[in-house]
Amino acid sequence: MKIIGLNGSPRKNGNSAALLDKALEGAASAGAEIERVDLYPLNFKGCRSCFACKRKGAFYGKGCAMKDDLTEVMRRMLDADGWVLSSPIYNGHTSSCLSALMERLFFSYHSYDEHGPMFSLEKAYPSLFLYNLNGGPEFVEKMGLEYSCKYDTFLFNSGFGPSRYMIAYNTLQFDDYSKYHTAAVPLERKMAWHEAHYAKDLERAYEMGRALVTAEGVKDD
Ligand SMILES: Cc1cc2nc3c(=O)[nH]c(=O)nc-3n(C[C@H](O)[C@H](O)[C@H](O)COP(=O)(O)O)c2cc1C
Repeated sequence: MKIIGLNGSPRKNGNSAALLDKALEGAASAGAEIERVDLYPLNFKGCRSCFACKRKGAFYGKGCAMKDDLTEVMRRMLDADGWVLSSPIYNGHTSSCLSALMERLFFSYHSYDEHGPMFSLEKAYPSLFLYNLNGGPEFVEKMGLEYSCKYDTFLFNSGFGPSRYMIAYNTLQFDDYSKYHTAAVPLERKMAWHEAHYAKDLERAYEMGRALVTAEGVKDD
């Protein structure tokens, strides 16, 4: 059993990475072999809408025809048995980097044909999405941001296998807030939230990573 984890943040040691590492640690504790891939250093783009994956010919049903650094990442994902996708919320969505991967992976296996809705892969891939953001739950609710998380898991659930997500709120952006212009940030409230929740968020990521490997991984919350 192999679990591959994708870091969709440009920061190799930020919150997305910390949550991802915890989830991978959880998966490893249940016996999985684990691998982490940092997406930002890689050279790739999102779907270019060439439709080679839908056209009668070589790529039909065989994944994405574009060739760049993502080709090998997607090959390794299909070689694994489950995925952890970790991302900061940028402008209300998954980071552009992780979105690019999701566009190419999902769309190229999405069938418009009688095979539909997906070309059959050899096995199901359970997945876990880990999101984190500067805002708190009240901001997420007010803006309806959770819809975006739900849509990601809806796609992966319908395309690849059971998919779950968690959100870590009010994550810290800087080591030292005194060095930045942050007058609009309710710092006291943010720090109190962080103190009360961050360790639990990491713990939750660990448990959800572990559950990817055990039978619990296929259950909904
Ligand atoms: C380009 C950009 C856009 C952002 N958009 C949002 C946003 O829409 N809502 C929010 O609460 N935080 C937003 N943030 C803050 C990040 O979600 C937050 O700093 C996150 O913890 C960063 O994750 P990381 O530590 O894994 O890099 C944004 C940050 C950047 C750099």
